[in-house]
Amino acid sequence: MIKAEHIDVSFKKENQTTLFGRERQQVLFDVSFEVKKGQCLGILGESGSGKSTLGRVLCGLLKPDKGSVRFESGKKAVISVVFQDYSTSANPRFTVKSLIGEGLMVKEKREKKTLNRKEETNRLLTLVGLDESYLHRLPHELSGGQLQRVCIARALAVNPEVILFDEAISSLDAHTQVQIMDLLKEIQEEKGLTYIFITHDLTSVTYLCSHVLFLYKGKAVEVRATEAISEVSHPYARKLLGAIPDVGEVYEPKVPDQAVS
Ligand SMILES: Nc1ncnc2c1ncn2[C@@H]1O[C@H](COP(=O)(O)OP(=O)(O)OP(=O)(O)O)[C@@H](O)[C@H]1O
Ligand SMILES: [Mg+2]
Repeated sequence: MIKAEHIDVSFKKENQTTLFGRERQQVLFDVSFEVKKGQCLGILGESGSGKSTLGRVLCGLLKPDKGSVRFESGKKAVISVVFQDYSTSANPRFTVKSLIGEGLMVKEKREKKTLNRKEETNRLLTLVGLDESYLHRLPHELSGGQLQRVCIARALAVNPEVILFDEAISSLDAHTQVQIMDLLKEIQEEKGLTYIFITHDLTSVTYLCSHVLFLYKGKAVEVRATEAISEVSHPYARKLLGAIPDVGEVYEPKVPDQAVS
């Protein structure tokens, strides 16, 4: 469904001009992977490893220096994005109704038809576990979890094939995270959606994702099916796994005795 091949990204460094122009800092190095329809790929990596940059390349917001992102259908897939900072990605002066309306407007434009906005909005609200009583509320009148549900409804309103979540639930408490992940699983099954789930949190990856890509210093060091996650071999991935208890003992390969000369 999605095939990313040999992606390199670099940015110009501020205030560092050489004879040959501004120096560049490379952030992604030859990143390749595939996501099939209906899968959920977790992109796991520490802060600064290039996760959001990769996300921006995937949804076409950033052009890579090298490499390509291709979709099965040949043309551009419809991707919705849900960001972490829902308090700024949602206009504070928009009501729930108009926030979801933003997504519906995109769908109307793309499908060139007029929707029954009221009906669609209510359908989406129900889907994310809210109801009509929230329609006229402003973002500050909602809890973090409720607002994030609204952002998910807005993403779904576009009727996407793929949804990219960039640390979308990271700032919610553990209980709300589980609730929202359960919701996402349900919606995914119902609609056959493909997810890309960017996070630094291994626990949520193992809960939600079918596959995990370990991103380390801009390199995709390993991709695994989640059920085989304990078989990872890259040292960084193994170190991350050691941080969660329920994967079991992490096997530490012994360094063979070296002849001392
Ligand atoms: N527009 C930009 N211009 C210059 N450098 C950038 C730009 N965007 C990102 N970077 C740099 O690229 C690197 C990767 O950033 P990115 O935001 O992709 O990391 P991340 O893995 O999402 O981190 P976090 O977990 O903190 O969100 C960082 O060193 C960052 O400073
Ligand atoms: Mg990020």
